[in-house]
Amino acid sequence: MGSFKHFIHAFLGGFALIHLVDAQDQSGFISIACGSPANSNYSEPTTGINYISDAAFIDTGISQQISAVYKGGFQQQVWNLRSFPQGIRNCYNISITQGTKYLIRGTFLYGNYDGQSKLPQFDIHLGVNMWDTVNIMNVTIPVFKELIHAPSLTNLQVCLVNTGLGMPFISAIELRPLNNNTYVANFGSLGLFARLDVGSSISYR
Ligand SMILES: *[C@@H]1O[C@H](CO)[C@@H](O)[C@H](O)[C@H]1NC(C)=O
Ligand SMILES: *[C@@H]1O[C@H](CO)[C@@H](O)[C@H](O)[C@H]1NC(C)=O
Ligand SMILES: *[C@@H]1O[C@H](CO)[C@@H](O)[C@H](O)[C@H]1NC(C)=O
Ligand SMILES: *[C@@H]1O[C@H](CO)[C@@H](O)[C@H](O)[C@H]1NC(C)=O
Repeated sequence: MGSFKHFIHAFLGGFALIHLVDAQDQSGFISIACGSPANSNYSEPTTGINYISDAAFIDTGISQQISAVYKGGFQQQVWNLRSFPQGIRNCYNISITQGTKYLIRGTFLYGNYDGQSKLPQFDIHLGVNMWDTVNIMNVTIPVFKELIHAPSLTNLQVCLVNTGLGMPFISAIELRPLNNNTYVANFGSLGLFARLDVGSSISYR
């Protein structure tokens, strides 16, 4: 997409989102900016969503940043990422509220973070279950994977699995409780760039 189109999306999306987020209670949201500095947190300027570092949820992997030339077009939670050069399977361990149904979203923006321009493919698992294959087709097009899950335990594992087709990485992990319709609508609005990738978006109603 051209930068003008980017701008229009950011511009229009930004207004709609600021409006919604003003009225939004983020309680129960878990918004993790993977690869951002340990213990850091920030409010994403266009959405008002509060993101926290992933460092408290995982011991492995390496913090990386997408190429500076691409940062301007995207929300801040994808500027950093965590890559996994070692091990077949690397897992996040996230505390959740038992019995709550969640919409879980993984976001993957390669952004040529390693300067290699080599697009990887890898799997993600939810606990021991296969979630999906992440096939990065373009340096600047984010991939979203979403599912609805009602965890039966107090912890959730999101795992990146190396299948021999490139180094796994992840940009953001977001969980939204689904027991309140307001939250569902607001999550839908969260995906400022989701509308550019209709295939991976789910219906929020
Ligand atoms: C990646 O996507 C951008 C924006 O849509 C496009 O301009 C570019 O040609 C794509 N690159 C490849 C290798 O498909
Ligand atoms: C965000 O960071 C500030 C310090 O900069 C800290 O006081 C606060 O507890 C952090 N919030 C979260 C949710 O981690
Ligand atoms: C996840 O973290 C919890 C503590 O919050 C711990 O009890 C549990 O064993 C961890 N699970 C894994 C698979 O590491
Ligand atoms: C749903 O969210 C609205 C607005 O935040 C709140 O007023 C209402 O009490 C919530 N309902 C439930 C069932 O949690």
